[in-house]
Amino acid sequence: MKKQTLSIIPILLIAVFLYSFKKFIIDEKHANPINELDARIERKVDSVLALMDVNEKVGQLVQYSGKWNATGPSSSKGDQYKLDKLKKGEVGSMLNITSVATIRETQKIVMDHSRLKIPLVFAYDVIHGYKTIFPIPLGESASWDLDLIKKTASIAAKETAASGINWTFAPMIDVSRDARWGRIMEGAGEDPYLNSVIGVARIQGFQGDDLAQLNTIAACAKHFAGYGFAEAGRDYNTVNIGEYELHNTILPPFKAAAKAGVATFMNSFNEIDGIPSTGNKMLQRDVLKGDWGWNGLVVSDWGSIGEMEAHGYAIDKKHASEIALNAGSDMDMESYAYEAHLETLLTENKITMAQLDDAVKRVLRLKFELGLFDDPYKYCDEEREKNDVYTKEHLAIARDGAKKSIVLLKNETELLPLSKNIKSIAVIGPLADNKDAPLGNWRAKGTYNSAVSLLEGVKSTVGKNTKIYYEKGADLTIPTVKPGDNQFSHPLKFNDRDTSGISAAVEAAKKAEVVLLAIGEDAYQTGEGRSQTNIGFLGVQQQLLEAIYKVNKNIVIVLMNGRPMDISWASNHVPSILECWFLGSESGNAMADVLFGDYNPSGKLPVSFPHNVGQEPLYYNQKNTGRPYNLKHVTYSGYIDTPKTALYPFGFGLSYTTFEYKNLKLDKNDMPKNGNIKVSVEVSNIGTRDGEEVIQLYIRDLVGSLTRPVKELKGFKKTMIKAGETKTIHFIINAEMLQFYTVNKKWEVEPGDFNLWVGGDSNATLKASFMVTE
Ligand code: NOJ
Repeated sequence: MKKQTLSIIPILLIAVFLYSFKKFIIDEKHANPINELDARIERKVDSVLALMDVNEKVGQLVQYSGKWNATGPSSSKGDQYKLDKLKKGEVGSMLNITSVATIRETQKIVMDHSRLKIPLVFAYDVIHGYKTIFPIPLGESASWDLDLIKKTASIAAKETAASGINWTFAPMIDVSRDARWGRIMEGAGEDPYLNSVIGVARIQGFQGDDLAQLNTIAACAKHFAGYGFAEAGRDYNTVNIGEYELHNTILPPFKAAAKAGVATFMNSFNEIDGIPSTGNKMLQRDVLKGDWGWNGLVVSDWGSIGEMEAHGYAIDKKHASEIALNAGSDMDMESYAYEAHLETLLTENKITMAQLDDAVKRVLRLKFELGLFDDPYKYCDEEREKNDVYTKEHLAIARDGAKKSIVLLKNETELLPLSKNIKSIAVIGPLADNKDAPLGNWRAKGTYNSAVSLLEGVKSTVGKNTKIYYEKGADLTIPTVKPGDNQFSHPLKFNDRDTSGISAAVEAAKKAEVVLLAIGEDAYQTGEGRSQTNIGFLGVQQQLLEAIYKVNKNIVIVLMNGRPMDISWASNHVPSILECWFLGSESGNAMADVLFGDYNPSGKLPVSFPHNVGQEPLYYNQKNTGRPYNLKHVTYSGYIDTPKTALYPFGFGLSYTTFEYKNLKLDKNDMPKNGNIKVSVEVSNIGTRDGEEVIQLYIRDLVGSLTRPVKELKGFKKTMIKAGETKTIHFIINAEMLQFYTVNKKWEVEPGDFNLWVGGDSNATLKASFMVTE
């Protein structure tokens, strides 16, 4: 309590301290090894903490949204309230304030009025680009290209930092297996390993090697934990998974993120087995901050501390604050709970000063690491804001990323690639000349209507003799807000009636050699709060598709969407389907690159596509069950009306060439627990075009102290193989790949038999076996 009395220290003394303190920082800046740097940061954190009274400490744990562009339910407090708190130095962070001018103005309020002048850290949801928009994360994950993913995250960081913001709430690394869940678009899909490596690539891209650099920002691993397992795919819904499943499936990407040094974590709205994650001590204090030894900052999700009241887990916000702080949730985003109750809870001994200090230190540490104490305005540079965003170079990478994210699902008659001198093409569909949908939902500061549309991409690619017939055919949605207004939280209204444009589209289709049919989803059909029970073509799109099919069978469906969809009818009828997700700013150009063969598609699905929604959640790495086999009898684990497997499985994606896998070899067939086995396989490009292939390695642990999945991805390599060339690809099987969270509640390798497959998707059949011995 001694520290609280410091509020009476004369302002002058503090000014002198801060001056010499800043000088100390600047003088000591050079030539120090990392651990010495960490130690110095700790000393600085401690010296600031020593100056703080309780209100100031609690204030550092408060995060408010600016009124601009809110991404959650409206704030309960007005601007004047927030302004007063800023002046008193009782706010640690702001989110949703964008632009150098407003950030400077907000920071200045704190610098001019507060006693200790502790700078604010500014956060924003930069999920797939800031101004230059990259493919939605699920789409970009289909590239399986970690260098590319790192690169796009680093550009997003550069643009974000150039606009004054220091912290993004990304990457989302929730393993998600339910296509009904709208936020499936925001992660890397259904597999823990793929989520881990892609999550780490994104973190490295955002944070670089040094958070204090002007072009890096703090990343945030979210949502800790279980959010992607919402029952029935209904957002914010209850999660019921067992302890072992939690450790084996949901936590690995978070562990990898913590190990990679992610600066912050965000907890989650959902409960797991009766305990809301925001109040889950086992997750936050015991596992994350304890077992994993991670010393970063945990921010709550929007209002999730207060929401523990609605969960029926806390009597009121005071009780919720007690639970959350005790559980290790450090910063309160928009619940207004900590600021109202932590001080009282302290005097009532319901929380301890040590807990409060620990949380505050995590905030201060981040601010020191970002260099904000050196210069609170360091990211505020109008010149950079103007010149460092949406550059030609960034757009070129957006195009590269977009084309590598496209997945060729079907190409039966080798309709694709098209000739650039094709006589005529009909470009049809509600998404065909749509310049906005490709920007996706979490588009940060992406400008409304700024994407290159499919039609534009086609026009700038084909020769001058190609005749293009464009018809929208139908609208997908009926606007509920003014075009260009932020639609993040607005209800969507689908066009279920107006089919008046279909006849013109049919006429266009009749005249053309090939139809490019751009259908799928509205940008806001996926994202937060966008769960659906029907994952087919909504509105009158199916009608449009069938009408076109009657007059011209040469259809290429150019699918734009944020979730796996039910495309069964299309898959049974049309010859070619190109999965184009929401590809961002350079969408249409990237699609044209693939459609006309300038780029040979190499994307592979990070999620399974079902035959129909009734199969959801659907994922390849399922358990075998006791009744796996279909012996032409109904009493096995399947459906009587639908196959139990995916329409398009995890890892699947075609190329304009063909790859053949052979000569799978293991250097030995058994290994001790800590040994390794060298695996090699020959992959030949037996077609006539050069192409990239993602070579995937799967294993199965046949018998365990707990049942194990039928297949688990354990490694992959993406490589270019020239036409006619054969490459030998190597993997090493080691203990890290084989271990799991066993019945002993430890990560262990269990001796026994394993199967191994290598191939181009999760249905890989080239198989070998090996044994692990004690
Ligand atoms: C709620 C979302 O769940 C979270 O992912 C996001 O970062 C926050 N809102 C802030 O916008």
